Amino acid sequence: MSTEEKRPLEFENISNSEIRAKWGLPDDISPYEVNLEELNPANNDWFGKNLDLEVFKRLREESPVHFTSDSQAGSYWSVTKYEDIKAIDMDHKRFSSDIMNGGIRLGGQPMSEPPDAIFHLPMFIMQDQPKHTDQRKVVAPMFTGSHLENFEDLIRSRTKKVLDDLPDGEHFNWVDKVSIELTSRMLATLFDVPQEDRLKLIHWSDTVERITDPDFFETPEEGFQELWKCFEYFNAIWEDRKAKGGDGNDLISMLARGESTRDMTPNEFLGNVILLIVAGNDTTRNSMSAGIKAFNQYPEQLAKVQNNKELINNMVSEIIRWQSPVGHMCRTAMEDVELHGKTIKKWDKVAIWYTSGNRDDDKFIEPHKLDIEREDARQHLSFGFGIHRCLGNRLADLQLKILWEEILDRFTSIEIAGDVKYLNSSFIRGITDLPVVAHRK
Ligand code: HEM
Repeated sequence: MSTEEKRPLEFENISNSEIRAKWGLPDDISPYEVNLEELNPANNDWFGKNLDLEVFKRLREESPVHFTSDSQAGSYWSVTKYEDIKAIDMDHKRFSSDIMNGGIRLGGQPMSEPPDAIFHLPMFIMQDQPKHTDQRKVVAPMFTGSHLENFEDLIRSRTKKVLDDLPDGEHFNWVDKVSIELTSRMLATLFDVPQEDRLKLIHWSDTVERITDPDFFETPEEGFQELWKCFEYFNAIWEDRKAKGGDGNDLISMLARGESTRDMTPNEFLGNVILLIVAGNDTTRNSMSAGIKAFNQYPEQLAKVQNNKELINNMVSEIIRWQSPVGHMCRTAMEDVELHGKTIKKWDKVAIWYTSGNRDDDKFIEPHKLDIEREDARQHLSFGFGIHRCLGNRLADLQLKILWEEILDRFTSIEIAGDVKYLNSSFIRGITDLPVVAHRK
Protein backbone atom coordinates (compact mmCIF):
# COMPACT_ATOMS: atom_id res chain seq x y z
CA MET A 1 0.00 0.00 0.00
CA SER A 2 1.28 3.48 -0.78
CA THR A 3 0.41 6.74 0.97
CA GLU A 4 1.99 9.06 -1.56
CA GLU A 5 0.07 12.22 -2.41
CA LYS A 6 -2.41 12.00 0.43
CA ARG A 7 -4.83 14.85 0.13
CA PRO A 8 -4.87 17.30 3.04
CA LEU A 9 -8.03 18.21 4.92
CA GLU A 10 -10.67 19.90 2.86
CA PHE A 11 -13.19 20.68 5.52
CA GLU A 12 -13.72 23.39 8.11
CA ASN A 13 -10.63 25.52 8.28
CA ILE A 14 -10.91 26.34 11.96
CA SER A 15 -8.20 25.79 14.52
CA ASN A 16 -8.59 23.83 17.75
CA SER A 17 -7.86 26.99 19.79
CA GLU A 18 -10.68 28.83 18.01
CA ILE A 19 -13.06 25.98 18.81
CA ARG A 20 -12.01 26.08 22.48
CA ALA A 21 -12.37 29.87 22.61
CA LYS A 22 -15.88 29.63 21.20
CA TRP A 23 -17.19 26.58 23.10
CA GLY A 24 -15.03 26.29 26.25
CA LEU A 25 -17.05 26.32 29.50
CA PRO A 26 -16.17 28.57 32.49
CA ASP A 27 -14.76 26.84 35.57
CA ASP A 28 -17.64 27.47 37.96
CA ILE A 29 -20.53 26.55 35.65
CA SER A 30 -23.37 24.21 36.63
CA PRO A 31 -25.40 22.34 33.99
CA TYR A 32 -28.54 23.63 35.72
CA GLU A 33 -27.60 27.26 34.92
CA VAL A 34 -27.65 26.74 31.17
CA ASN A 35 -30.90 27.32 29.20
CA LEU A 36 -32.26 23.88 28.48
CA GLU A 37 -32.49 24.58 24.73
CA GLU A 38 -28.81 25.48 24.67
CA LEU A 39 -27.59 22.55 26.75
CA ASN A 40 -24.88 20.80 24.74
CA PRO A 41 -23.98 17.52 26.45
CA ALA A 42 -21.32 16.81 23.82
CA ASN A 43 -19.23 19.70 25.07
CA ASN A 44 -16.05 17.87 26.11
CA ASP A 45 -15.61 20.26 29.05
CA TRP A 46 -18.54 18.70 30.94
CA PHE A 47 -16.57 15.47 30.97
CA GLY A 48 -13.20 17.10 31.71
CA LYS A 49 -14.80 18.88 34.69
CA ASN A 50 -16.55 15.67 35.83
CA LEU A 51 -19.96 17.35 35.50
CA ASP A 52 -21.32 15.10 32.77
CA LEU A 53 -23.47 13.00 35.11
CA GLU A 54 -25.28 16.13 36.28
CA VAL A 55 -25.92 17.15 32.66
CA PHE A 56 -27.51 13.78 31.97
CA LYS A 57 -29.50 13.76 35.22
CA ARG A 58 -31.07 17.01 34.11
CA LEU A 59 -31.74 15.75 30.60
CA ARG A 60 -33.34 12.49 31.79
CA GLU A 61 -35.62 14.50 34.06
CA GLU A 62 -36.44 17.46 31.80
CA SER A 63 -35.78 16.46 28.20
CA PRO A 64 -34.99 12.78 27.59
CA VAL A 65 -35.06 13.25 23.81
CA HIS A 66 -33.21 16.52 23.48
CA PHE A 67 -32.24 18.63 20.47
CA THR A 68 -29.11 20.80 20.52
CA SER A 69 -29.30 23.11 17.52
CA ASP A 70 -25.78 24.53 17.66
CA SER A 71 -22.54 23.07 18.94
CA GLN A 72 -18.95 22.39 17.98
CA ALA A 73 -20.37 19.19 16.43
CA GLY A 74 -23.28 20.89 14.63
CA SER A 75 -26.88 20.04 15.50
CA TYR A 76 -27.82 16.70 17.07
CA TRP A 77 -30.31 14.80 19.24
CA SER A 78 -29.43 13.34 22.63
CA VAL A 79 -31.19 10.20 23.83
CA THR A 80 -30.60 9.64 27.54
CA LYS A 81 -33.00 6.92 28.85
CA TYR A 82 -31.85 3.28 29.06
CA GLU A 83 -34.63 1.65 27.01
CA ASP A 84 -34.51 4.28 24.24
CA ILE A 85 -30.72 3.96 23.92
CA LYS A 86 -30.93 0.19 23.69
CA ALA A 87 -33.75 0.34 21.12
CA ILE A 88 -31.82 2.73 18.85
CA ASP A 89 -28.61 0.73 19.18
CA MET A 90 -30.50 -2.39 18.01
CA ASP A 91 -32.29 -0.57 15.17
CA HIS A 92 -29.36 -0.53 12.73
CA LYS A 93 -31.64 -0.28 9.67
CA ARG A 94 -33.12 3.08 10.66
CA PHE A 95 -30.01 4.35 12.47
CA SER A 96 -26.85 4.17 10.39
CA SER A 97 -23.25 4.01 11.58
CA ASP A 98 -21.79 4.46 8.09
CA ILE A 99 -18.83 6.80 7.83
CA MET A 100 -20.34 8.28 4.67
CA ASN A 101 -23.31 9.39 6.76
CA GLY A 102 -21.08 10.84 9.48
CA GLY A 103 -19.91 7.81 11.48
CA ILE A 104 -20.26 6.98 15.16
CA ARG A 105 -18.89 9.94 17.02
CA LEU A 106 -20.33 13.43 17.27
CA GLY A 107 -18.28 15.90 15.28
CA GLY A 108 -15.59 13.30 14.76
CA GLN A 109 -16.04 12.65 11.10
CA PRO A 110 -17.21 14.97 8.37
CA MET A 111 -19.12 13.52 5.41
CA SER A 112 -16.23 12.27 3.50
CA GLU A 113 -15.26 12.86 -0.06
CA PRO A 114 -12.66 12.35 -1.43
CA PRO A 115 -12.10 8.86 -0.08
CA ASP A 116 -8.32 9.22 0.06
CA ALA A 117 -8.22 12.39 2.19
CA ILE A 118 -6.13 11.91 5.33
CA PHE A 119 -9.09 12.33 7.68
CA HIS A 120 -11.22 9.69 5.96
CA LEU A 121 -10.65 6.49 7.95
CA PRO A 122 -13.30 3.85 7.26
CA MET A 123 -13.45 1.08 9.87
CA PHE A 124 -16.01 -1.62 10.40
CA ILE A 125 -17.58 0.05 13.43
CA MET A 126 -18.41 2.85 10.95
CA GLN A 127 -20.01 0.59 8.34
CA ASP A 128 -23.52 -0.76 7.95
CA GLN A 129 -24.39 -4.24 6.76
CA PRO A 130 -23.23 -6.14 4.80
CA LYS A 131 -19.70 -4.70 4.87
CA HIS A 132 -19.67 -4.28 8.64
CA THR A 133 -20.55 -7.90 9.27
CA ASP A 134 -18.13 -9.29 6.66
CA GLN A 135 -15.19 -7.41 8.16
CA ARG A 136 -16.19 -8.05 11.80
CA LYS A 137 -16.18 -11.79 11.05
CA VAL A 138 -12.53 -11.60 9.96
CA VAL A 139 -11.23 -10.66 13.42
CA ALA A 140 -14.01 -12.18 15.56
CA PRO A 141 -12.14 -15.52 16.09
CA MET A 142 -9.58 -13.62 18.19
CA PHE A 143 -12.23 -12.87 20.81
CA THR A 144 -14.15 -16.14 21.27
CA GLY A 145 -14.23 -17.60 24.79
CA SER A 146 -12.18 -20.65 23.82
CA HIS A 147 -9.50 -18.59 22.05
CA LEU A 148 -9.21 -16.19 24.97
CA GLU A 149 -8.44 -19.10 27.31
CA ASN A 150 -5.02 -19.23 25.61
CA PHE A 151 -4.24 -15.78 26.99
CA GLU A 152 -5.24 -16.38 30.60
CA ASP A 153 -1.86 -17.48 31.95
CA LEU A 154 -0.05 -14.71 30.11
CA ILE A 155 -2.45 -12.04 31.39
CA ARG A 156 -2.11 -13.37 34.94
CA SER A 157 1.68 -13.49 34.96
CA ARG A 158 1.93 -9.98 33.55
CA THR A 159 -0.62 -8.66 36.02
CA LYS A 160 1.30 -10.19 38.93
CA LYS A 161 4.55 -8.64 37.72
CA VAL A 162 3.05 -5.18 37.24
CA LEU A 163 1.47 -5.24 40.72
CA ASP A 164 4.58 -6.67 42.40
CA ASP A 165 6.68 -3.87 40.88
CA LEU A 166 4.49 -1.06 42.24
CA PRO A 167 6.22 1.31 44.67
CA ASP A 168 5.66 0.71 48.38
CA GLY A 169 4.29 3.62 50.42
CA GLU A 170 4.89 6.16 47.62
CA HIS A 171 2.45 8.14 45.52
CA PHE A 172 2.14 7.00 41.90
CA ASN A 173 -0.31 7.44 39.02
CA TRP A 174 -2.39 4.24 38.75
CA VAL A 175 -3.31 5.14 35.18
CA ASP A 176 0.32 5.07 33.98
CA LYS A 177 1.71 2.31 36.14
CA VAL A 178 -1.16 -0.17 35.93
CA SER A 179 -4.01 0.67 33.52
CA ILE A 180 -1.85 1.76 30.57
CA GLU A 181 0.82 -0.80 31.28
CA LEU A 182 -1.55 -3.76 31.22
CA THR A 183 -3.71 -2.67 28.27
CA SER A 184 -0.68 -1.79 26.14
CA ARG A 185 0.89 -5.20 26.76
CA MET A 186 -2.36 -6.90 25.77
CA LEU A 187 -2.62 -4.87 22.57
CA ALA A 188 0.96 -5.67 21.56
CA THR A 189 0.09 -9.37 22.02
CA LEU A 190 -3.09 -9.13 19.93
CA PHE A 191 -1.14 -7.50 17.08
CA ASP A 192 1.95 -9.64 17.75
CA VAL A 193 4.30 -6.64 17.70
CA PRO A 194 7.37 -6.30 19.98
CA GLN A 195 6.47 -5.38 23.57
CA GLU A 196 9.02 -2.53 23.36
CA ASP A 197 6.66 -0.88 20.85
CA ARG A 198 3.62 -1.05 23.08
CA LEU A 199 3.65 2.63 24.04
CA LYS A 200 3.56 3.57 20.36
CA LEU A 201 0.12 1.96 20.22
CA ILE A 202 -0.96 3.96 23.24
CA HIS A 203 0.38 7.13 21.61
CA TRP A 204 -1.72 6.59 18.48
CA SER A 205 -4.76 5.69 20.51
CA ASP A 206 -4.35 8.85 22.58
CA THR A 207 -3.80 10.85 19.39
CA VAL A 208 -7.34 9.99 18.26
CA GLU A 209 -8.71 11.67 21.41
CA ARG A 210 -6.36 14.64 21.01
CA ILE A 211 -7.06 15.52 17.38
CA THR A 212 -9.29 18.44 18.34
CA ASP A 213 -7.40 19.38 21.51
CA PRO A 214 -5.40 22.63 21.17
CA ASP A 215 -3.05 21.47 23.95
CA PHE A 216 -1.75 18.88 21.51
CA PHE A 217 -2.54 19.99 17.93
CA GLU A 218 -3.26 23.44 16.53
CA THR A 219 -5.49 21.97 13.82
CA PRO A 220 -7.23 18.61 13.32
CA GLU A 221 -5.10 18.16 10.23
CA GLU A 222 -1.91 18.04 12.33
CA GLY A 223 -3.50 15.35 14.47
CA PHE A 224 -4.44 13.25 11.46
CA GLN A 225 -0.91 13.61 10.09
CA GLU A 226 0.41 12.15 13.33
CA LEU A 227 -2.02 9.27 12.96
CA TRP A 228 -0.65 8.39 9.54
CA LYS A 229 2.65 7.47 11.23
CA CYS A 230 0.68 4.52 12.57
CA PHE A 231 0.05 3.53 8.96
CA GLU A 232 3.78 3.51 8.18
CA TYR A 233 4.43 1.29 11.19
CA PHE A 234 1.68 -1.26 10.52
CA ASN A 235 2.03 -1.26 6.74
CA ALA A 236 5.55 -2.69 7.06
CA ILE A 237 4.19 -5.43 9.32
CA TRP A 238 1.30 -6.10 6.93
CA GLU A 239 3.63 -6.50 3.94
CA ASP A 240 5.87 -8.81 5.92
CA ARG A 241 3.01 -11.02 7.14
CA LYS A 242 1.41 -11.12 3.70
CA ALA A 243 4.71 -12.25 2.22
CA LYS A 244 4.76 -15.05 4.79
CA GLY A 245 1.30 -16.21 3.67
CA GLY A 246 -0.66 -14.40 6.40
CA ASP A 247 -1.03 -17.55 8.45
CA GLY A 248 -0.32 -15.99 11.87
CA ASN A 249 -2.84 -15.83 14.69
CA ASP A 250 -2.58 -12.08 15.22
CA LEU A 251 -4.98 -9.34 14.15
CA ILE A 252 -2.83 -8.12 11.23
CA SER A 253 -2.48 -11.63 9.77
CA MET A 254 -6.23 -12.12 10.17
CA LEU A 255 -6.89 -8.90 8.23
CA ALA A 256 -4.33 -9.94 5.58
CA ARG A 257 -6.13 -13.29 5.07
CA GLY A 258 -9.75 -12.11 5.25
CA GLU A 259 -11.62 -12.00 1.98
CA SER A 260 -13.29 -8.68 2.85
CA THR A 261 -10.12 -7.10 4.28
CA ARG A 262 -7.14 -8.33 2.24
CA ASP A 263 -7.61 -5.68 -0.49
CA MET A 264 -8.29 -2.68 1.76
CA THR A 265 -7.21 0.80 0.63
CA PRO A 266 -4.55 2.49 2.82
CA ASN A 267 -7.29 4.62 4.43
CA GLU A 268 -9.37 1.58 5.26
CA PHE A 269 -6.39 -0.35 6.57
CA LEU A 270 -5.41 2.50 8.88
CA GLY A 271 -9.06 2.94 9.92
CA ASN A 272 -9.45 -0.69 10.98
CA VAL A 273 -6.08 -0.78 12.76
CA ILE A 274 -7.01 2.38 14.66
CA LEU A 275 -10.39 0.86 15.57
CA LEU A 276 -8.73 -2.22 17.04
CA ILE A 277 -6.19 -0.13 18.95
CA VAL A 278 -8.62 2.43 20.38
CA ALA A 279 -11.46 0.01 21.12
CA GLY A 280 -9.28 -2.26 23.22
CA ASN A 281 -7.22 0.40 24.90
CA ASP A 282 -9.05 3.43 26.24
CA THR A 283 -12.06 1.48 27.37
CA THR A 284 -10.33 -1.25 29.37
CA ARG A 285 -7.80 1.25 30.68
CA ASN A 286 -10.52 3.43 32.15
CA SER A 287 -12.35 0.49 33.67
CA MET A 288 -9.10 -0.49 35.41
CA SER A 289 -8.81 3.01 36.85
CA ALA A 290 -12.51 3.37 37.66
CA GLY A 291 -12.53 0.38 40.01
CA ILE A 292 -9.96 2.06 42.24
CA LYS A 293 -11.94 5.27 42.28
CA ALA A 294 -15.21 3.43 42.98
CA PHE A 295 -13.84 1.53 45.99
CA ASN A 296 -12.45 4.72 47.50
CA GLN A 297 -15.97 6.11 47.31
CA TYR A 298 -17.64 2.87 48.50
CA PRO A 299 -15.19 1.14 50.88
CA GLU A 300 -17.95 -1.14 52.25
CA GLN A 301 -18.20 -2.69 48.77
CA LEU A 302 -14.48 -3.44 48.81
CA ALA A 303 -14.92 -5.17 52.18
CA LYS A 304 -17.66 -7.36 50.66
CA VAL A 305 -15.47 -8.66 47.85
CA GLN A 306 -12.48 -9.06 50.18
CA ASN A 307 -14.65 -11.48 52.16
CA ASN A 308 -16.15 -13.23 49.15
CA LYS A 309 -14.07 -13.52 45.96
CA GLU A 310 -17.00 -15.12 44.16
CA LEU A 311 -18.42 -11.64 43.78
CA ILE A 312 -15.58 -10.64 41.42
CA ASN A 313 -17.37 -11.49 38.15
CA ASN A 314 -20.43 -9.43 38.99
CA MET A 315 -18.25 -6.71 40.46
CA VAL A 316 -16.43 -6.34 37.12
CA SER A 317 -19.73 -5.78 35.29
CA GLU A 318 -20.80 -3.29 37.95
CA ILE A 319 -17.56 -1.30 37.62
CA ILE A 320 -18.00 -1.19 33.84
CA ARG A 321 -21.60 0.00 34.29
CA TRP A 322 -20.59 2.60 36.86
CA GLN A 323 -17.79 4.02 34.69
CA SER A 324 -19.38 3.74 31.18
CA PRO A 325 -16.01 4.08 29.41
CA VAL A 326 -17.69 5.00 26.11
CA GLY A 327 -19.71 8.19 26.61
CA HIS A 328 -21.76 8.01 23.45
CA MET A 329 -22.21 6.46 20.05
CA CYS A 330 -23.64 8.55 17.26
CA ARG A 331 -26.05 7.36 14.57
CA THR A 332 -27.65 9.02 11.54
CA ALA A 333 -31.41 8.63 11.06
CA MET A 334 -32.22 7.00 7.71
CA GLU A 335 -35.89 8.01 7.90
CA ASP A 336 -38.13 10.21 10.08
CA VAL A 337 -38.57 8.58 13.50
CA GLU A 338 -41.06 9.59 16.23
CA LEU A 339 -39.72 9.26 19.77
CA HIS A 340 -41.69 10.45 22.82
CA GLY A 341 -43.50 13.11 20.79
CA LYS A 342 -40.37 14.44 19.07
CA THR A 343 -39.63 13.92 15.37
CA ILE A 344 -36.10 12.91 14.53
CA LYS A 345 -35.78 13.83 10.86
CA LYS A 346 -34.05 11.79 8.19
CA TRP A 347 -30.29 12.61 8.21
CA ASP A 348 -30.40 14.02 11.75
CA LYS A 349 -27.55 12.98 14.06
CA VAL A 350 -28.56 11.06 17.18
CA ALA A 351 -26.22 10.58 20.15
CA ILE A 352 -27.08 7.61 22.34
CA TRP A 353 -25.52 8.35 25.72
CA TYR A 354 -24.48 5.10 27.39
CA THR A 355 -23.18 7.10 30.36
CA SER A 356 -26.69 8.37 30.95
CA GLY A 357 -28.57 5.11 30.36
CA ASN A 358 -26.35 3.37 32.90
CA ARG A 359 -27.48 5.89 35.54
CA ASP A 360 -31.18 5.74 34.67
CA ASP A 361 -33.23 5.03 37.81
CA ASP A 362 -36.09 3.61 35.76
CA LYS A 363 -33.69 0.77 34.99
CA PHE A 364 -31.21 0.49 37.87
CA ILE A 365 -32.04 0.85 41.58
CA GLU A 366 -29.91 3.64 43.14
CA PRO A 367 -27.97 3.91 39.87
CA HIS A 368 -25.26 6.27 41.15
CA LYS A 369 -24.16 3.80 43.80
CA LEU A 370 -21.57 1.10 43.17
CA ASP A 371 -23.30 -2.11 44.26
CA ILE A 372 -21.22 -5.15 43.44
CA GLU A 373 -24.14 -7.46 44.21
CA ARG A 374 -26.49 -5.63 41.83
CA GLU A 375 -28.54 -8.36 40.19
CA ASP A 376 -28.82 -6.71 36.78
CA ALA A 377 -25.28 -5.27 36.60
CA ARG A 378 -24.60 -7.33 33.45
CA GLN A 379 -27.41 -5.55 31.65
CA HIS A 380 -25.33 -2.38 31.52
CA LEU A 381 -25.14 -0.47 28.25
CA SER A 382 -21.37 -0.03 28.29
CA PHE A 383 -20.71 -2.67 25.61
CA GLY A 384 -23.62 -1.50 23.45
CA PHE A 385 -26.26 -3.78 21.93
CA GLY A 386 -27.05 -5.09 18.47
CA ILE A 387 -24.78 -5.82 15.53
CA HIS A 388 -21.99 -3.52 16.76
CA ARG A 389 -21.97 -4.87 20.32
CA CYS A 390 -18.42 -4.78 21.62
CA LEU A 391 -16.37 -7.54 20.05
CA GLY A 392 -13.80 -7.48 22.85
CA ASN A 393 -16.22 -7.60 25.80
CA ARG A 394 -15.09 -11.05 26.99
CA LEU A 395 -11.47 -10.02 26.81
CA ALA A 396 -12.17 -6.85 28.80
CA ASP A 397 -14.05 -8.84 31.45
CA LEU A 398 -11.20 -11.37 31.65
CA GLN A 399 -8.47 -8.72 32.02
CA LEU A 400 -10.41 -6.97 34.77
CA LYS A 401 -11.28 -10.18 36.59
CA ILE A 402 -7.64 -11.25 36.72
CA LEU A 403 -6.52 -7.78 37.75
CA TRP A 404 -8.93 -7.75 40.69
CA GLU A 405 -8.09 -11.29 41.78
CA GLU A 406 -4.44 -10.30 41.95
CA ILE A 407 -5.10 -6.92 43.61
CA LEU A 408 -7.16 -8.59 46.35
CA ASP A 409 -4.38 -11.12 46.94
CA ARG A 410 -1.79 -8.40 47.53
CA PHE A 411 -3.30 -5.20 48.86
CA THR A 412 -5.62 -4.20 51.70
CA SER A 413 -6.50 -0.99 49.86
CA ILE A 414 -5.41 1.33 47.07
CA GLU A 415 -5.93 4.78 48.51
CA ILE A 416 -6.48 7.86 46.38
CA ALA A 417 -3.82 10.39 47.42
CA GLY A 418 -4.36 13.49 45.27
CA ASP A 419 -6.59 15.14 42.69
CA VAL A 420 -8.24 12.87 40.15
CA LYS A 421 -8.19 14.32 36.62
CA TYR A 422 -10.56 13.48 33.81
CA LEU A 423 -10.25 13.26 30.03
CA ASN A 424 -11.73 16.17 28.09
CA SER A 425 -13.79 13.98 25.81
CA SER A 426 -17.48 13.19 25.44
CA PHE A 427 -16.62 10.04 23.51
CA ILE A 428 -14.23 8.26 25.84
CA ARG A 429 -15.22 8.82 29.45
CA GLY A 430 -11.78 8.64 30.94
CA ILE A 431 -9.49 9.24 33.89
CA THR A 432 -6.05 10.66 33.11
CA ASP A 433 -4.57 11.04 36.61
CA LEU A 434 -5.28 8.82 39.57
CA PRO A 435 -2.65 9.47 42.25
CA VAL A 436 -2.67 6.61 44.76
CA VAL A 437 -0.77 4.86 47.53
CA ALA A 438 -1.00 1.08 47.56
CA HIS A 439 -1.19 -0.63 50.97
CA ARG A 440 0.22 -4.14 50.82
CA LYS A 441 -1.03 -6.97 53.01
C1 HEM B 1 -14.49 -2.23 29.28
C2 HEM B 1 -13.97 -2.32 28.08
C3 HEM B 1 -14.73 -2.02 26.80
C4 HEM B 1 -15.84 -1.26 26.60
C5 HEM B 1 -16.66 -0.49 27.63
C6 HEM B 1 -16.15 -1.30 25.19
C7 HEM B 1 -17.22 -0.64 24.59
C8 HEM B 1 -17.58 -0.76 23.26
C9 HEM B 1 -18.74 -0.15 22.66
C10 HEM B 1 -19.72 0.77 23.38
C11 HEM B 1 -18.78 -0.51 21.36
C12 HEM B 1 -19.84 -0.10 20.34
C13 HEM B 1 -21.12 -0.87 20.60
C14 HEM B 1 -22.29 -0.45 19.76
O1 HEM B 1 -22.15 0.39 18.86
O2 HEM B 1 -23.38 -1.00 19.99
C15 HEM B 1 -17.64 -1.34 21.12
C16 HEM B 1 -17.31 -1.89 19.91
C17 HEM B 1 -16.15 -2.57 19.69
N1 HEM B 1 -15.21 -2.97 20.63
FE1 HEM B 1 -15.26 -2.63 22.60
N2 HEM B 1 -15.20 -2.05 24.56
C18 HEM B 1 -14.32 -2.53 25.50
C19 HEM B 1 -13.23 -3.34 25.29
C20 HEM B 1 -12.82 -3.81 24.06
C21 HEM B 1 -11.66 -4.63 23.82
C22 HEM B 1 -10.70 -5.15 24.89
C23 HEM B 1 -11.60 -4.83 22.47
C24 HEM B 1 -10.58 -5.56 21.67
C25 HEM B 1 -9.33 -5.58 21.85
C26 HEM B 1 -12.76 -4.17 21.87
C27 HEM B 1 -13.06 -4.16 20.53
C28 HEM B 1 -14.20 -3.62 19.97
C29 HEM B 1 -14.49 -3.65 18.55
C30 HEM B 1 -13.64 -4.27 17.47
C31 HEM B 1 -15.72 -3.00 18.37
C32 HEM B 1 -16.49 -2.77 17.07
C33 HEM B 1 -17.59 -3.80 16.94
C34 HEM B 1 -18.46 -3.63 15.71
O3 HEM B 1 -18.59 -2.55 15.17
O4 HEM B 1 -19.01 -4.65 15.28
N3 HEM B 1 -13.47 -3.56 22.86
N4 HEM B 1 -16.92 -1.50 22.31
